[in-house]
Amino acid sequence: MPTTHRVALLGALLLPVAAGANVETHLAAVLKFGPRVTGSEANAQARTYLEGQFRALGYEVRRETFTYPRFDDLGSGVEVGGRTLAGLALQGSVGQEVTAPVARVSGVGTPEEFAAAGVRGRVAVVDRGTLPFAHKARNALAAGALGLIVVNNQPGEVRGTLGEPVALPVLTVTREVGAGLRSGERATLRVRVREGDVTGVNVVASKSGVTRPDFLFGGHMDSVPGAPGANDNLSGTLAVLDLAGRVAGTPLATRSVFVLFDGEEDGLHGSRAYVKANPEIVRNLRGMFNFDMVGVNVTPLTVSGEAGLVEAVRRSSGAVGRVGDTGGSDHVPFAGAGVPTLFFHRGLDANYHQPGDVLADPALIREAVDAALKTVNALPASRP
Ligand code: BES
Ligand code: ZN
Repeated sequence: MPTTHRVALLGALLLPVAAGANVETHLAAVLKFGPRVTGSEANAQARTYLEGQFRALGYEVRRETFTYPRFDDLGSGVEVGGRTLAGLALQGSVGQEVTAPVARVSGVGTPEEFAAAGVRGRVAVVDRGTLPFAHKARNALAAGALGLIVVNNQPGEVRGTLGEPVALPVLTVTREVGAGLRSGERATLRVRVREGDVTGVNVVASKSGVTRPDFLFGGHMDSVPGAPGANDNLSGTLAVLDLAGRVAGTPLATRSVFVLFDGEEDGLHGSRAYVKANPEIVRNLRGMFNFDMVGVNVTPLTVSGEAGLVEAVRRSSGAVGRVGDTGGSDHVPFAGAGVPTLFFHRGLDANYHQPGDVLADPALIREAVDAALKTVNALPASRP
């Protein structure tokens, strides 16, 4: 394996770049930065590293930035008996600290249940389920509660939204934390939140002079808070980089653009921004290939999208081809703009959006790239 390191001059920065480094190397290097939440330092470090890799392959790299509002939990929880237990603020909750006795409501938070439990002046605790979060919160407020804790009815944490602002601090907790909240106990509910604008950065790589690419190969490089995002979606990011490396010296390189999208996990912001900012390129694309979660085999490699492209997938590769749209990922805004798209994925693994998302198999990533290249080669050489 090539281990020669050289130094690329990047503005005023001297960055070590492993020339021709492989998927294994990139996985280890990028995972080291931590979760690549849009706007975070780790996201910026990963971006700089990946940009260096595209440049080392002979591509020009540019950044396209975009801004959107986001709700962040800055560290919320509940303190009982001198112990601080973890919780997550529901989006739309007010940021506030209240100390009051706990009122454990038996139920999901209907007006009748709150009345029966006597929650006035207390921190009400209800179960998740049946009612939307906003209804529970509005009912709690109307019943005079000072704060609301929603206990998950499934294993793990809940990251959710009220969908509207409610003038009450509202937290979700796991079942384990919920079991420790007993009526009458004094609790301090701390909801620390921030609502502000976040700036995302798409990385766009192409060979010099490419203005009218036939193909866009993309994948999102951001991840959710707390999840290292090896499969979701460093796997897809490295598929795009590997593909760029494999075609670098071929005619396909001059017919392609490679995009690492940011802001996907907050609602496809990067791909929406790209489609909006590049109408000419988007209009001319013959295909947008999106790689998202291709490093863990839950299902065999599945490629879904536009009928003509899926037909080429089926003819040329061993992948499962499905006509039609599936999954919320960066192909969606392109499909919405009329671009034929293909979505490469291997299903949702058990570590999806969890701290355990630390593994992706380089062989599976390369296999997704093989399938994409076979598909491109199976298409007619020029536009129909
Ligand atoms: N990686 C997922 C999408 C995905 C789903 C890939 C199934 C492969 C198989 C993506 O990052 C994600 O979490 N998307 C959100 C929606 C998005 C608009 C925030 C989802 O699917 O809930
Ligand atoms: Zn993803």
